[in-house]
Amino acid sequence: MVWHEYIDGSWAVLFSHPADFTPVCTTELGSVATFMPEFEKRGVKVAALSCNDSASHKAWIKDIEATDFAGSSKISYPIIADPGRDIAIAWGMLDPEEKDAAGLPMTCRAVFIVKPDKSLALSILYPATTGRNFSEVLRVIDSLQLTANFSVATPANWSSGKKCMVVPGLTDEEANAKFAKGFTKVEVPSGKGYIRLTEDPTAN
Ligand code: BEZ
Repeated sequence: MVWHEYIDGSWAVLFSHPADFTPVCTTELGSVATFMPEFEKRGVKVAALSCNDSASHKAWIKDIEATDFAGSSKISYPIIADPGRDIAIAWGMLDPEEKDAAGLPMTCRAVFIVKPDKSLALSILYPATTGRNFSEVLRVIDSLQLTANFSVATPANWSSGKKCMVVPGLTDEEANAKFAKGFTKVEVPSGKGYIRLTEDPTAN
């Protein structure tokens, strides 16, 4: 099955990896396995991509599942084989700073979050030497899903249950009609009243 069919109609996350049997990648794939219940709860289809073939991926999965980073979780999500780097090149994932033994640029740690309509909601490129924080990826998905479902934005360092913000596209009247608990305006020297806080609509 191709990735576009696999993700069809769902939120999706794609993680890319420089190569199989590399230390940081091994910890990341194990960590993602432990996060799968959280991704599934949010209706997110997860896939990884690494620039080796599927025989190599199958052998590598045994190592990944044997580390503490995976806990007792199995790799239940697909790892896309991209031995020729065709996908990595087409989707702008190559890191010119990191070269393999043959001197070819390796894939960086890209994170793509894709909306159900297949538009790209977020892309972050991490250097090969920095492992990703998957709690942050979940936090972004929570924020994106709140915006899609309830027309709220989320402030700096927000986490689920904390105060959200009325999106600038809504007038005060529209916001009052939309949010049962209303909103409060943060007082600022300009007096413009553009920072409007409201409860997390999914909080009890
Ligand atoms: C790693 O996954 O450990 C790694 C891969 C490529 C360059 C540096 C680190």
